Amino acid sequence: QVVDAQGLHVLPGLMDCHVHFREPGNALVETIETGTRAAALGGLTTVFDMPNTNPAIADLEMVEWKQKRASETSWINFGFYIGATRENTKDLASLESQKGVCGIKVYAGSSTGSLMVEDDASLEQVMLHGHRRVCYHAEDEYRLQERKKLFCEGMPYENHRLWRDEECAFLGTRRIIALARKTGRPAHILHTTTQEELEWLVDHKDIATVEVLANHLTQIAPECYERLKGFAVMNPPIRDQRHYDACWEAIRNGVVDVVSSDHAPHDPELKAKPWLCCPSGMLGVQTIVPLMLNHVNEGRLSLSRLADVMAANPARIYGMPTKGRIQVGYDADFTVVDMQKKRRITNDWIASPAGWTPYDQVEVKGWPMVTIVKGRIVMQNDEMQGTPEGELVNFLP
Ligand code: DOR
Ligand code: ZN
Ligand code: ZN
Repeated sequence: QVVDAQGLHVLPGLMDCHVHFREPGNALVETIETGTRAAALGGLTTVFDMPNTNPAIADLEMVEWKQKRASETSWINFGFYIGATRENTKDLASLESQKGVCGIKVYAGSSTGSLMVEDDASLEQVMLHGHRRVCYHAEDEYRLQERKKLFCEGMPYENHRLWRDEECAFLGTRRIIALARKTGRPAHILHTTTQEELEWLVDHKDIATVEVLANHLTQIAPECYERLKGFAVMNPPIRDQRHYDACWEAIRNGVVDVVSSDHAPHDPELKAKPWLCCPSGMLGVQTIVPLMLNHVNEGRLSLSRLADVMAANPARIYGMPTKGRIQVGYDADFTVVDMQKKRRITNDWIASPAGWTPYDQVEVKGWPMVTIVKGRIVMQNDEMQGTPEGELVNFLP
């Protein structure tokens, strides 16, 4: 196996720490096999899968189910989250130490699925069980419901961002930080989106790490809703220019530790429904690397900063295996990219059964050419190679 990397860049294996692969429960839009195939085609060597499946991953039986399924069908390194519920608090410490478990995920505001812990007392209990960094979908549920009532039926898509408002995210994030301080348990704040959150988090980096999504670094409201309607709806929502600029500022000033996709496939027929009836989330695992390489080419971040937020920082934050003093993720995981290649993203390139991307017809400069997992070529020039031999990630205890 020889890779001619003349004129290409060899990056550490890029990771997407936030994907929803829908298995078990909805193989019509994604499975571990199709999702990790899409990831490899898009230049990723590792993914971490969210627990809001059907049934959810919230007890030992489902953890074992996921371990087995991922070992048999994943193309790349695979980690997955445990969903916190009000019922499984006491088991969280033992669940989070199971093989392949990258951490605990808490929904402090409602989203797809039924995992939600929203009251302070229950959230505090979650913080007191286990020891790894707790990952939060931080939105404020009460505020959410109140806004939803105010902005109801008959609204155009463009107004989606009104009821999923800025204050809702900021309230959620402040609450999680207060709990982290009270309990001493570090938090990882998923998909921060607002200027207020990001500026405020500057003073809380000792207790919290921060994720921003590629979607929020690439799309801007209201343009995206006018063009994509329900296909641009996600939680937290795509926001306007002010917040877009704040997300980029936070990438440059170091507040952001991790950039992920929040790949959340849904049936395109459901996404075409009127707003409030259409599910939240868009596909993204296959397009995150091309989009971020394009951002590098457009001067928004450097290639080494990209390697920080998609490889080095995630490896440190989630506790990937170490080599000597440096956390390196896994041995011989590489993403080889062509920074000069111009190419159009299209729906027919998408490997997920859901079969669409919000970036259809978008032209980018910079493309993943080869994905190497533990020294094996898994993808080269758009072709998958071999069989699904990906393994569960062994996280540090
Ligand atoms: O837009 C979203 N979609 N946000 C979430 O938090 C969940 C996700 C999904 O699973 O569909
Ligand atoms: Zn979320
Ligand atoms: Zn998510």
